[in-house]
Order: sequence, then structure tokens, then C-alpha cells
Amino acid sequence: MKMLLLVVIYWTVTSFVASASTKQRIYYGEAELVQQLLTNPSQWMYVQENVDGFYVNFIEMDDILTVDELSDFFKLFKNKSAYYESDADPHHQPLEKDKTAIDVLHRVGWNITYTSQNYGWTVERDEILGYYNLTEHVRRRPDCVQLGPWTLSGNISNNAGTGPYSNAQYRAWINQTDGVSTDGPLGFWQINFQQVREGSYSAVQFAHRLGKSAAVMLCPYGAGVPTYNSTRDFLTVGISAIQGHEDNDADPDIWIIFEYADSSIPAVPEQINDYPANSTTGMAFYALKHRDGIPKTLDLYIDEGKVGQYVFVRESNSVDMTIHSNVPVGTARNYTLQVADYSSWLDYAAQIRAFAIGNPTSAWKISYTIDGVDITSDIGNTDGFVFVRKNRLQPKTIQSINISFFRTSTIVNNMTLIIELSPHRGSAVIDSLRILC
Ligand SMILES: *[C@@H]1O[C@H](CO)[C@@H](O)[C@H](O)[C@H]1NC(C)=O
Ligand SMILES: *[C@@H]1O[C@H](CO)[C@@H](O)[C@H](O)[C@H]1NC(C)=O
Ligand SMILES: *[C@@H]1O[C@H](CO)[C@@H](O)[C@H](O)[C@H]1NC(C)=O
Ligand SMILES: *[C@@H]1O[C@H](CO)[C@@H](O)[C@H](O)[C@H]1NC(C)=O
Ligand SMILES: *[C@@H]1O[C@H](CO)[C@@H](O)[C@H](O)[C@H]1NC(C)=O
Ligand SMILES: *[C@@H]1O[C@H](CO)[C@@H](O)[C@H](O)[C@H]1NC(C)=O
Ligand SMILES: *[C@@H]1O[C@H](CO)[C@@H](O)[C@H](O)[C@H]1NC(C)=O
Ligand SMILES: *[C@@H]1O[C@H](CO)[C@@H](O)[C@H](O)[C@H]1NC(C)=O
Ligand SMILES: *[C@@H]1O[C@H](CO)[C@@H](O)[C@H](O)[C@H]1NC(C)=O
Ligand SMILES: *[C@@H]1O[C@H](CO)[C@@H](O)[C@H](O)[C@H]1NC(C)=O
Repeated sequence: MKMLLLVVIYWTVTSFVASASTKQRIYYGEAELVQQLLTNPSQWMYVQENVDGFYVNFIEMDDILTVDELSDFFKLFKNKSAYYESDADPHHQPLEKDKTAIDVLHRVGWNITYTSQNYGWTVERDEILGYYNLTEHVRRRPDCVQLGPWTLSGNISNNAGTGPYSNAQYRAWINQTDGVSTDGPLGFWQINFQQVREGSYSAVQFAHRLGKSAAVMLCPYGAGVPTYNSTRDFLTVGISAIQGHEDNDADPDIWIIFEYADSSIPAVPEQINDYPANSTTGMAFYALKHRDGIPKTLDLYIDEGKVGQYVFVRESNSVDMTIHSNVPVGTARNYTLQVADYSSWLDYAAQIRAFAIGNPTSAWKISYTIDGVDITSDIGNTDGFVFVRKNRLQPKTIQSINISFFRTSTIVNNMTLIIELSPHRGSAVIDSLRILC
């Protein structure tokens, strides 16, 4: 009994921590232009090295990719995780074929880290996707409900939906399983076809409110809308879709960059002179750089004295600045924290966090404002303060945060304040400051 209780507590604690600030995942795949990827492996090496895994759907598994091609992709991807998309309708995909797909993926060597069901959701298929030949070291493989956000007629929480299933049905399925996964033709995004944007934002928000995962697809397909042939400016529209989700409290846990039914956008190259190319690997290249950062393009420093400017990696435990305590109660020491984006093209939805180590009861009251708005509680939170909307770090710009130290006691209680900057929520810290006060 005691063991069981401990296990339950352990699970709760770890999953809470995970949802607080987990690194975003990025999966990449391509349905039509697989040959372009396999014959030009040197043109998308950054993506191979850095994505979290390979995205593949049931049609590809059944009809497009040979086992040899799957093996070739397996060798190219550094991370051996696969996201397998199936279809709930047995007329589209007989249940047995999912077993075959799982067996083939396993035989090649892939770990299946996510699965999804398009066109509905059934318990029978969930049994297979979640548990069939569960060689992955997890309780079950996560299985998400895939939907087209343009069919939600707006907000998944409030509107009825246009089908194939009602929004109420989608909500119930998402609640029942591991989360939501979207289909995402960017042609629809560009013209906001049937309020696809509100649909996509609200689906992410709904899943997050239930503590479930949300995966959003970016793909260059017009999906037969007569007024829209296919996505032309794939990269530009894709970047605006990423920023739109971030700016609307709908940053997903996973970006899926996947092409199907539209070969007009090339798969490679991923970059031209280090700028993302207008290709599907180029879209993944942008998403990865936006998440992980380009070294030395994000700088956190104190404007007064330029403390920490151009210093990105330091000796651990060295102190950047000391605020002396021999001052009367009521003294304020005000500084400006600068967050600079030196990149010529890359924007960041960066995350800044501050916490104290050492003596927990400081004699300073520390507060932070940005443009006059108090962000003290955000910055002290696990999720930190995120630079989105008007605060987004645009290329070649600097954002300022005012930090105020207000002396509240004469007791000398030294502590170290650590301020950390990450290029994105949950990403590795790329610059920090240590202030002794
Ligand atoms: C590969 O990606 C998965 C998520 O897709 C992650 O859990 C895992 O840590 C990654 N593995 C490595 C070696 O980076
Ligand atoms: C799981 O897959 C492995 C490798 O393909 C196979 O050897 C094993 O028999 C399978 N187990 C079950 C229970 O299907
Ligand atoms: C698959 O995941 C397991 C743990 O979940 C790990 O031990 C194994 O190395 C992974 N396989 C590959 C090919 O990465
Ligand atoms: C989700 O399911 C639980 C029962 O498993 C239920 O109590 C809860 O009300 C549901 N939430 C929503 C939003 O449907
Ligand atoms: C969708 O509706 C919910 C519940 O009313 C609301 O909290 C959320 O902000 C809405 N999302 C969007 C994108 O409008
Ligand atoms: C779609 O393509 C057809 C044929 O190329 C063209 O005539 C039409 O103008 C295109 N429509 C749009 C909205 O681009
Ligand atoms: C992106 O590529 C498509 C297809 O080749 C092309 O039509 C479009 O003009 C390109 N957009 C940009 C911004 O280069
Ligand atoms: C506390 O900080 C002051 C500088 O403000 C320093 O002189 C002193 O040695 C520190 N005391 C301790 C115990 O670290
Ligand atoms: C922020 O600090 C600067 C200089 O330190 C000051 O001019 C400005 O008024 C401050 N802004 C706010 C909102 O406190
Ligand atoms: C220092 O910052 C605090 C908090 O923002 C503010 O109330 C105070 O006026 C500032 N003092 C000076 C001298 O700028």
C-alpha cells in the first residue's frame, strides 16, 4: 500500500514539473518528396541532427515508404523517435495494418514516442496504438486526437463545429486520451479559412487546460479549397503561424512539420547561407533555431556598466555584480536588464526567470517591470516571463526590464540572485547573470 502511494505521488510530482516548462518537441516528415531527402542528405543535416523525431502517417507506411527507405531515414535521424499518425476509420485503415506498421517501425529500430488517430477516435485502435508490442519504456504510447481546426467553426470550447464530428465529441475524446494533434494546411492559415486560427489556438488551450499535450502541424497543402491552390510562401506563412500560436497563449508542446498532397514546396535545402530556405526542411530549420537559439545572438546584461554584455559562458559560481548591503532601510538600487537579439533574421519568444539561492530571507525586496507593467510574479515563476506579443525579441532589437532592489531590513543576509535567459520556454539556458545582494 505504502509503495503504491509513493509511486502515485512520484507520478504526480514528475508530471507537474514536466508540464511546467518542458522543452518543445519538433517532428519532421515528408510524404511526396521522400526521394529528395534521401538523395540529398547533405542538404538537411541540421534538421537530421536536431529534430526530436520522424513524423510518418499510415498512408506512407502502407503505400509509399519501403522498409529500406524507412531504414535510410532511421540512419539519417539522430533521434530515433517516430510519431505515427493513423486513422480511426477502419475503412481507411484496418486495425491489423496498424499492428503491421508498428512492427515495421520497430523492426527498423524506431521508438514510437507519439501516435494519433485522424477522423475520430476509437478505443479499439487506442489499444493497439497505446499498447501493441510496447517495447518503448513507457506506461503506454501517447495517442492523440487528430482534427482539422477549420472544422471547429471557431472555438472548440464554445462553438458547435462543422464535422465530421461535433466539438463536444472532440472535447470528450481529448479528455479521454493523451491530447490533441492537428492537421495544418498553411493555405488555410493564410486566408484564415473557416476561422482555422481560432480553431487551432483554442484546441491547444483546451488540451492544456486538461493537462494534455497539444501538437500542431504545419504543412504546405491547400486541401482542395477552390480559392486557394496551395501554400506558396510556405516559410513566411509558417513562421507567422508559429508566432500567432505563441502570441495567443497557444504555444504547443510539439510542432509537426510535415508535407502531404502538395509537392510544389521542395523538401531541401534547409538553409541558404544560414538563412532558412523556403522548403519543408527550411521550415523545420527555422523552428529549431527559434527554439534552441543561435549561439551568441541572445545577450542578457545590465545596462549600467554593461555588466555581462557579450559574456555568454562563464566560470560557474563567479558573480557578475554585488549590491552592497551597508545602506539604510528604504534605499532603492535600480538597474536596467537588457535582453538583446543580435541575429539579423531570427526572432525569439525568449523566456527569462529569476530565483535566489543561498539565504532565503533577503533584506532586499526585488521587483521587475517591463514598459511599466509589473512582471515580478511571472519572472519568479517556473514558466518565467516570455517575450511575446509586443515584447517579442525581434532581430537586431533590445528589450529592457527594470529591476529594483529595495532595502527592507538592516540585517545582512547575503543571497545570490540568478537570472536566466532561454531562447524559448523550456529550452536550455544560454545566458545568465549572478548578482550577490
Ligand atoms: C529524442 O526525442 C524525444 C522526444 O521526441 C526525447 O524524449 C528524447 O530525449 C530525445 N533523445 C535524445 C537522445 O535526444
Ligand atoms: C514485438 O516485436 C519484436 C520485434 O519485432 C518481436 O520480436 C516480438 O515478438 C514482438 N512481441 C509481440 C508480443 O508481438
Ligand atoms: C528506445 O527507447 C529506449 C528507452 O525508452 C532506449 O533504451 C533505446 O535506446 C531507444 N532506442 C533507440 C534506437 O533510440
Ligand atoms: C474529463 O473527464 C473527467 C472524468 O474522467 C470529468 O470529470 C471531467 O469533467 C472531464 N472534463 C471535461 C472538460 O470534459
Ligand atoms: C476559447 O474559449 C475559451 C472558453 O471560453 C476561452 O478561454 C479561450 O480564450 C478561447 N480561445 C480563443 C482562441 O478564442
Ligand atoms: C489556381 O490555379 C489555377 C491554375 O493554375 C489558376 O488559374 C488560378 O488563378 C489559381 N487560383 C488562385 C487563387 O491562385
Ligand atoms: C516559396 O516557394 C514557392 C514554390 O516554389 C514559391 O511559389 C514561392 O514564391 C516561394 N516564396 C518565397 C517567399 O520565396
Ligand atoms: C556579504 O556580502 C558582502 C558584500 O555585500 C561581503 O562583504 C560579505 O563578506 C558577505 N558575507 C558573507 C557571509 O558572505
Ligand atoms: C526604467 O528605467 C529607466 C532608466 O533606468 C527609467 O528612465 C524608466 O523610467 C524606468 N521605467 C519604469 C517603467 O520604471
Ligand atoms: C526605482 O524603481 C522603483 C520600482 O520600480 C520605483 O518605485 C522608484 O521610483 C525607482 N527609483 C528611482 C530613483 O528611479
